[in-house]
Amino acid sequence: MHQPGRQYRNIALVGFMGTGKTTVGHLLAELLGFELIDTDRVIEKRTHRRIQDIFAEDGEPAFRKLENDLVKELETANRTIISTGGGMIVNPENLKSLRRHALIACLWATPETIYERVKTQTHRPLLHAPDPLGTIRELLARRTSFYKEADLLVGVDFRAPQETTRNIAAAYARVNAQPVEP
Ligand code: S3P
Repeated sequence: MHQPGRQYRNIALVGFMGTGKTTVGHLLAELLGFELIDTDRVIEKRTHRRIQDIFAEDGEPAFRKLENDLVKELETANRTIISTGGGMIVNPENLKSLRRHALIACLWATPETIYERVKTQTHRPLLHAPDPLGTIRELLARRTSFYKEADLLVGVDFRAPQETTRNIAAAYARVNAQPVEP
């Protein structure tokens, strides 16, 4: 839960792969006139490599290190929507860093919805598995307690990204409008 009376400069979107963080990130940035930073895209740009190549060539820990380095830099961000990779807040250090400046909204969907959304896509190394739905179920179960640390949990199963965007923007306005405690 968010802390009453706190002001947040930014919004961080967290949540499992395929929950729509990138789409909602673009819509939110447009709606609020904020900058958009997509952590996966920044990592790809800086390394000149695709995420799946970093995983294949250097291994997952190397990718997690890049995420961890980037999240620290984002502490100076202002009026920014930070769309994160699905594993970002599994590292408690990353969550703690985001909490310093951002309202953290987690997009939440069932494994079945996630599977429907990702089944035709090929760019997520963790889902290159013989049984992707089983992998999603297992990984989501392992990560649930981390995702539930978010300030807002937004169910996206039956919502269009536009509605999710409006809900997050309204919550952000509400939270930031609360009087600062003396
Ligand atoms: C990952 C999610 C991906 C990307 C990487 C690892 C994860 O981002 O960061 O493949 O661990 O859940 P999306 O959530 O944008 O797919």
